[in-house]
Amino acid sequence: MASPAAGVVVIVGSGLIGRSWAMLFASGGFRVKLYDIEQQQVTNALENIRKEMTFLEQSGSLKGSLGAQDQLALISGCLNIQEAVEGALHIQECVPENLELKRKIFAQLDQIVDDQVVLSSSTSCLLPSQLFAGLAHVQQCLVAHPVNPPYYVPLVELVPHPETAPATVDRTHALMRKIGQSPVRVLKEMDGFVLNRLQYAVISEAWRLVEEGIVSPSDLDLVMSDGLGMRYAFIGPLETMHLNAEGMLSYCDRYSEGMKRVLKTFGPIPEFSGATVEKVNQAMCLKVPADPEPLAARRRWRDECLQRLAKLKRQMPSQ
Ligand code: NAI
Repeated sequence: MASPAAGVVVIVGSGLIGRSWAMLFASGGFRVKLYDIEQQQVTNALENIRKEMTFLEQSGSLKGSLGAQDQLALISGCLNIQEAVEGALHIQECVPENLELKRKIFAQLDQIVDDQVVLSSSTSCLLPSQLFAGLAHVQQCLVAHPVNPPYYVPLVELVPHPETAPATVDRTHALMRKIGQSPVRVLKEMDGFVLNRLQYAVISEAWRLVEEGIVSPSDLDLVMSDGLGMRYAFIGPLETMHLNAEGMLSYCDRYSEGMKRVLKTFGPIPEFSGATVEKVNQAMCLKVPADPEPLAARRRWRDECLQRLAKLKRQMPSQ
């Protein structure tokens, strides 16, 4: 575990994602400064983190080797950006997904940081070349894209700008490992990074199958939750291929013609509108009405499932 003296991490934006990052860095023993332009947001974030950590400790799911009180003592709110970044080793930006706003924040940070700190954005889909263009400290910049909820879903996509120094990616990779996350290196920037490209490929074919009347929306979801998803929580699609035959070469030998035949029947990009959206919406609302309360209850259930799955994954030896 890192000692608090090992460094200060600054979170810029204390909303949903900023709070999760704050908890993760505190679990690794880092001092966390939570910065926001809204005093109320910081107050709410600190209160929310306190409740969440207390609950996690009681349910035996608190990350890290420090207790909740010690972790909470590492997190403080801050309304002055200059003060916040002083001596920081890592700055994690978590403001709303708006290119102009994020560019403004990074331009501001560029003026006040030293040559050592890493400047990292949580953006889901803005490209590093858009975010960091023209910054004096561009070599220290990268995207570190988490997955919601980051406390239970450890993946972080690290995406460099073409001018990002390799050491910046290496340092961030090591830092993510230290706080128990699972970083992957996206070697070149690409729209949608990797996770969303895979996700959109699945959504796209799911939509076409429902649109063409091949399967009902609820059965389509079962194919993932009780079929593919069971394996994918532990092994990816490539290792699945390797294990589903006598190794990868054998899989490609046996199944490549069949895969190519099926892939040729995939249709165009869906419109995600019209009769199909009504059909899918009706099926989803039957299961979970699209009102705040049932949606929040279902999200809590999802997060509890993820929390238990995360526990199982920690317990399972990787071999
Ligand atoms: P949010 O809306 O919950 O929080 C944004 C926070 O930024 C608010 O507290 C707001 O007061 C603060 N803020 C606004 N302007 C600011 C400024 N100039 N300086 C400092 N703070 C400022 O947003 P959320 O959901 O936490 O998203 C943050 C980022 O994380 C976005 O880029 C989003 O794409 C990304 N992300 C979100 C995921 C999600 O599922 N919500 C998943 C992965 C990434």
